[in-house]
Amino acid sequence: MRERCGPDFQVGVRISPERFGLRLGEVREVAAELLLSDAVDYLDLSLWDVAKQPEEEGFQDRPLMDWFTDLDRGTTRLGVAGKVRSGQQVTEALDRGADFVMVGRASILHHDFPERVRADGSFATRTPVSPAHLADEGLSPVFVEYMRNWRGFVTEAS
Ligand SMILES: Cc1cc2nc3c(=O)[nH]c(=O)nc-3n(C[C@H](O)[C@H](O)[C@H](O)COP(=O)(O)O)c2cc1C
Repeated sequence: MRERCGPDFQVGVRISPERFGLRLGEVREVAAELLLSDAVDYLDLSLWDVAKQPEEEGFQDRPLMDWFTDLDRGTTRLGVAGKVRSGQQVTEALDRGADFVMVGRASILHHDFPERVRADGSFATRTPVSPAHLADEGLSPVFVEYMRNWRGFVTEAS
């Protein structure tokens, strides 16, 4: 990919540490190797909740994210995703050692979430929101219906 896309193209890998039956100790080893390999510009952790404790026994003495932030990362950036919904949570994740945060549902609620947080560090999203709000944010009717799969995200139809 680097050869074909050139040096300005960001190459990253996403890891879902607690999905697909993966074992945390093994995932940590893979992450450690990737972070120092020079093969990627960033590693992206799909944690589903940046504040959560690990599910796996033997790893529950510190938050899931911390099992990765203490790894030597050289110049590779480490990003985290999961329930980051406010400026305060962005700041907390960065303070806890992430180089950047990724926002999923917060950016569906507000397409300009990063700009809002930059302008007001106390900005926070609220749910549920109406289908009309999501349509204003650019979601198609099909997408709005799909987002009903996330409980408490879209207001119930009256
Ligand atoms: C509508 C939607 C589609 C998603 N699709 C993908 C996907 O294709 N691949 C993936 O790795 N994660 C996907 N995710 C997960 C998000 O990238 C993110 O990790 C997750 O939503 C947690 O972050 P959040 O709490 O900020 O939403 C999706 C999330 C949403 C809400």
